[in-house]
Amino acid sequence: MSSLLEIQGLHKRFGTTEVLKGVDCAVRQSEVVAIIGSSGSGKTTLLRCINMLEDFQAGRIVLDGEEIGYETRDGVRRRKSEKEIARQRALTGMAFQQFNLFPHLTAAENVMLGLVKLKRMSRDEARTLAMRWLDRVGLAERADHFPGQLSGGQQQRVAIARAIAMQPKLMLFDEVTSALDPELVGEVLQVIKGLAADGMTMMLVTHEMRFAHEVAGRVIFMNGGVIGEEGNPKKMFLAPQTERLAEFLKSSSFN
Ligand SMILES: Nc1ncnc2c1ncn2[C@@H]1O[C@H](COP(=O)(O)OP(=O)(O)O)[C@@H](O)[C@H]1O
Ligand SMILES: [Mg+2]
Repeated sequence: MSSLLEIQGLHKRFGTTEVLKGVDCAVRQSEVVAIIGSSGSGKTTLLRCINMLEDFQAGRIVLDGEEIGYETRDGVRRRKSEKEIARQRALTGMAFQQFNLFPHLTAAENVMLGLVKLKRMSRDEARTLAMRWLDRVGLAERADHFPGQLSGGQQQRVAIARAIAMQPKLMLFDEVTSALDPELVGEVLQVIKGLAADGMTMMLVTHEMRFAHEVAGRVIFMNGGVIGEEGNPKKMFLAPQTERLAEFLKSSSFN
């Protein structure tokens, strides 16, 4: 079976603290995988390794047939060149809890930036594409607003448009609704649902159990730096196989 993403034996330390203790998983094209788990279980670190925002000490991450970040020659594991890593980083798109938009650029300019700088598009081409993606997230008429003039939900949708405009093979979402006022969560989840329906492959860390249940084909429960349990959300939420997941679900709200 061929996977878009394959992770084998991923180990990550910060100093002497081992945070990922051997993670194995595979994600198929167009699959939506939700990652749940307590604070500190390694969810963010896992996504950051996939996007090479973190180095890791052992294991392999293979995306669309390419080993990410490292290569092994004559039995020696080496970090790839910065240039190669930058190219590979663009294979995945990432959206974070904090939207990280440039405050001095409009919504459209925020989306255009990567297209002009990394994809070397002309400003006209980039503007056309940016408008298409802003429209896709329901923000065409806000294209010329600055982040400070947009709500948190709108800013997060711009951040998502910026990531998908780069046409990543895989989208990573890290608690993208956690910083939002409750009434703004729905509009962002709606955008993510739309992308899922279009067949975008994605891994999303979320505290929204109901959302994970609705949108994810598979759920991964991170526990202490390893995958504690994984499977179909409907089965897993109804009948957790481990005590830890049962406890976690009890402590999470389904609303
Ligand atoms: N840059 C860092 N330096 C040192 N420790 C870190 C760093 N980032 C995360 N950690 C530690 O790694 C563990 C996992 O963190 P994280 O991946 O952010 O968990 P989660 O996203 O599941 O809450 C935590 O114990 C955290 O304190
Ligand atoms: Mg986190």
